[in-house]
Amino acid sequence: MTLRLGDIVPDFEAPTTEGPIHFHEWAGKSWVVLFSHPKNYTPVCTTELGYTAKLKPEFEKRNVKAIGLSVDKLEDHHGWAKDIEETQGAALNFPLIADADKKVANLYDMIHPNASDTFTVRSVFVIDPNKKLRLSLTYPASTGRNFDEILRVIDSLQLTDGYKVATPVNWKNGEDVIIVPSVKDEEAHKLFPNGFKTIKPYLRTVPQPKG
Ligand code: BEZ
Repeated sequence: MTLRLGDIVPDFEAPTTEGPIHFHEWAGKSWVVLFSHPKNYTPVCTTELGYTAKLKPEFEKRNVKAIGLSVDKLEDHHGWAKDIEETQGAALNFPLIADADKKVANLYDMIHPNASDTFTVRSVFVIDPNKKLRLSLTYPASTGRNFDEILRVIDSLQLTDGYKVATPVNWKNGEDVIIVPSVKDEEAHKLFPNGFKTIKPYLRTVPQPKG
């Protein structure tokens, strides 16, 4: 199934390292980062999962739950979790879906047969509290992801949901943002009474509103 931005993501039931879950119910009113990795007991995946565990306080600040997936068995997840803690200095603190029958992987199109017909690629889905897909990323097995970038996008999504702004190239939380083009100057003066900078009529920047 091809998932597009704005789609309601498919629901599923699956076993995880934290017990069986019903995905939509588990997500509740949180944002979710659902990500697949190719295989347990592999080096790049080990670093990704350790780093994601370390980011837990950052996820919590943003009301985000992380959940991983690979097409491995639950008992393998438990064994590998010990290695993650030992080598990365962080114990798994989010559920890992054991998708040995590839049910969820197929539902979310995480297997790209021309890359590998056996393992999932490195997919990332950022899902909002309305269960809508807000970001999707696909990385090859050989390239570990930048989870700081995923947090950065969530910061942008949460900010731009609340204000009529967009975030420029390489923006980071706290930096100036762009007033969306649909807002005319007259409205912009009301929305941003402390003023904004007009670089071109279509390129107006303003200090980041409270995020
Ligand atoms: C890894 O996680 O290290 C990995 C997994 C599959 C292919 C290449 C690397």
